[in-house]
Amino acid sequence: MTAGAIKRRKGKAHFPIATAYDAPFAQFVEAAGIDVVLVGDSVGNVVLGFDETTPVTLESIIYHTQAVARGTTRAHIMADMPFGSYQVSNEDALRSAIRLVKEGGACSVKLEGGRDQAERIRAITGAGIPVVGHIGVTPQTAGLGPGFKMRTHRDRLIDDARSVEVAGAYAIVLEVVDYEISREITELLSIPTIGIGSGPQCDAQVLVLHDILGMYPHSPSFAKRYAEMGSLATKALQTYAQEVRDGVFPPAMQVAERVP
Ligand code: KIV
Repeated sequence: MTAGAIKRRKGKAHFPIATAYDAPFAQFVEAAGIDVVLVGDSVGNVVLGFDETTPVTLESIIYHTQAVARGTTRAHIMADMPFGSYQVSNEDALRSAIRLVKEGGACSVKLEGGRDQAERIRAITGAGIPVVGHIGVTPQTAGLGPGFKMRTHRDRLIDDARSVEVAGAYAIVLEVVDYEISREITELLSIPTIGIGSGPQCDAQVLVLHDILGMYPHSPSFAKRYAEMGSLATKALQTYAQEVRDGVFPPAMQVAERVP
């Protein structure tokens, strides 16, 4: 699945994207028919135990992207550029993007920012690496502005979206953007919009895997929990622990064959 093929989905049927950070869950995502996987820097929150995404390193994203690449066969792997990997200079940004592709196995990279990051997007796409933009709520710099509140500055959002497209991005994430403004941006741009908490008009939707699966007690209000895997996992582990304590597991009769 190439970036070009994703771009050509613009205006056609809505398509789903999910994050994944390791081989087994990437396999589940692909088996569900989802052919675009984002190795998000949300790995910091949902896998690595950080409160925010800023501590996530380029090495971490490369490591998790490699695992996702091993777990998939044909899905498009989009890798997030973590905080600090693209802000300093165009050269730095390009070097980081090349590492994500060459070492990680990413098919494209995503970075946060609008007009202020257009130069970086141009530098990376100029070297032949497809880029996804990301505007609205940008968690890497949420501390600077209105945090995680819905973005409603129409003119600024439209200007950012246009700048990202003109700079050469093949798609753009709209995170927690007012639904009406998202609709307007989706109509204005010729590249797909990928919504998260930004309404049903976007060309695609993306959600964090752990929110979809209900791994933690709380998830953002815009996310839908399609399972309660956190409590399922706890129950399974409680049963295992109890069976060991009660002498129920392992059973008395030895199992002869070994699982290969
Ligand atoms: O890191 C991430 O998972 C993301 C999505 C929330 C869009 O950037």
